[in-house]
Amino acid sequence: MRNGEIRIRDAGVSYRLYRERVTTLKEAVVQRFRHLRSAEMFWALRNVSLTIPPGDAIAFVGHNGSGKSTLLKTIAGVLQPSEGEVLVQGRISPMIELGAGFDSELTGRDNIYLNGALLGFSRKQMEAKFDGIVAFAELGDFIDMPIKNYSSGMYARLGFAIAQDVEPEILIVDEVLAVGDERFQEKCKARIKDFRTSGVTFVFVSHAHAAVSELCARAAVLHHGRLAFDGHVEQAWERYRELERGPAPGPSAAAL
Ligand SMILES: Nc1ncnc2c1ncn2[C@@H]1O[C@H](COP(=O)(O)OP(=O)(O)OP(=O)(O)O)[C@@H](O)[C@H]1O
Ligand SMILES: [Mg+2]
Repeated sequence: MRNGEIRIRDAGVSYRLYRERVTTLKEAVVQRFRHLRSAEMFWALRNVSLTIPPGDAIAFVGHNGSGKSTLLKTIAGVLQPSEGEVLVQGRISPMIELGAGFDSELTGRDNIYLNGALLGFSRKQMEAKFDGIVAFAELGDFIDMPIKNYSSGMYARLGFAIAQDVEPEILIVDEVLAVGDERFQEKCKARIKDFRTSGVTFVFVSHAHAAVSELCARAAVLHHGRLAFDGHVEQAWERYRELERGPAPGPSAAAL
């Protein structure tokens, strides 16, 4: 495989569903025992196959719960597929969940070093990057405040500022840009375009039509965990809307 390449073959992710809510530890133990036999398997993702060549930019679109974040988590390696395989070559910079990889008790400053360590950078290497990250995040004095006091937009700023400075070969961005203000979103989009020019693979999830069309020529539609379309971005949106409308009513439906 080449650096920056992602190969997904028949990937599936299943969860066990426990329907009843538990309120006490005793109930939890009892229900866990009962449900060991009766838990339903729920496939959040099933039979997904696609290849993303190095330097490609692809967006995943689909309804809430269609499996987009699940798929991105398997690409980022934070979730193992229950079946099939997800092969990824190259350094990944994942922005999947707000604050993932952050320690909320620590300051923004300390979290930069923590994230750097998680991504395999030494303290010295992160020291060299530190000023650039802080400048990109534009958090001012908040950089020395525990991040539990950050707003969601501030989390996103810090997260993206780190992600864009760790020399990724694959950049994964799940929705998080949506909570940034307009100016910060524009800045992130400009940075993503730089990455694209320099051949970084880009994987994007967003419900924002304009941002998706601006950043990706290719888009895949996930529908109830299955790949419903993979191709040109505008056709993907059409397919997505069609699926959301549901099947056209036929004669039998009219008779009801
Ligand atoms: N840990 C989990 N345990 C059980 N079910 C889960 C778990 N994580 C996700 N799911 C389920 O998997 C399905 C896919 O979720 P996912 O987060 O991938 O959706 P999504 O396409 O990212 O949605 P959204 O647009 O709302 O972000 C959902 O039905 C969700 O409830
Ligand atoms: Mg999601």
